[in-house]
Amino acid sequence: MIKKLGKTLRENTPPLVSPRPKRPGEPAPGVADQAKEAGIHTVGWIDERTSLSGAGRWLMFRKVPKGTNWFYTLGSATLFAFLNQAVTGVFLAMYYDPSPTRAYESARYITNDAFLGEFVRGMHKWGSSMMVILIFLHMARVFFFGAYKYPRELNWVIGVVLLILTFVMSLTGYLLPFDQRSYWATIVAANITASGPLAGPYLGDFLRGGAEFNATTLSRFYSIHMLLVPGLIAALIGAHLYLVARLGTTAPPWLKAQEPEQLQEERV
Ligand code: HEM
Repeated sequence: MIKKLGKTLRENTPPLVSPRPKRPGEPAPGVADQAKEAGIHTVGWIDERTSLSGAGRWLMFRKVPKGTNWFYTLGSATLFAFLNQAVTGVFLAMYYDPSPTRAYESARYITNDAFLGEFVRGMHKWGSSMMVILIFLHMARVFFFGAYKYPRELNWVIGVVLLILTFVMSLTGYLLPFDQRSYWATIVAANITASGPLAGPYLGDFLRGGAEFNATTLSRFYSIHMLLVPGLIAALIGAHLYLVARLGTTAPPWLKAQEPEQLQEERV
């Protein structure tokens, strides 16, 4: 019975993307055409089972306000910097050892001996500074264009949490090379945190893994740096981009000075 139903469905359901019938005398399709067709079929196959193309169209094809300019690319640039950190971080984690006796040596090994190690470590180190610079520039764009106002307040708040988490990434990553500079800088940072009011002492203890900087501090920083915070950042970026797609981006402030009807006429 089920087999028969399946056969009837197969025979009566047209394929999502049907191949164009061959014209008389037309040469057989080349490799490029076959590859194109295979791609279309694969996308059709996945879409038939997931209906994801609607969501894809909703996300990708949208009108943007007149006057959108290069400053609107700063959010995507920050996203790119985060992805760079994630990809290079995965390769660094293949060699890095977060034990107090092996951390410095494993970082030295990455730079001096591992294949492309110096390059990947450099991309991660300079990429972290780039991410901090870009996130500030993006935030400044949002602020000066008034894009934090109704109905985008929640996206601003998510952005603030993303900013704080980016700082936590910088702080926890700084300790990992475990050289003199990173060791003493982290002791200073943990002591400053502990001197804060109310939650300060608890946060300090949490960071150090106790009252003193000890062997657990490094593994704690490592797990916060490579598991906890990147996971939170990825989830929050998802929410941030959902809201951007849902609410659209704000027009530049100088266009808002125009009469609404005039603005509507000029909208592309
Ligand atoms: C990991 C960090 C971040 C990523 C990947 C990110 C990504 C993006 C992207 C791709 C957009 C749309 C394009 C654009 O306007 O540039 C956007 C818009 C926005 N972002 Fe961020 N962002 C981040 C951090 C922040 C921060 C720190 C804030 C503010 C505190 C913020 C607030 C906003 C707001 C309010 C919008 C809407 C802008 C509008 O409607 O014109 N974002 N973000």
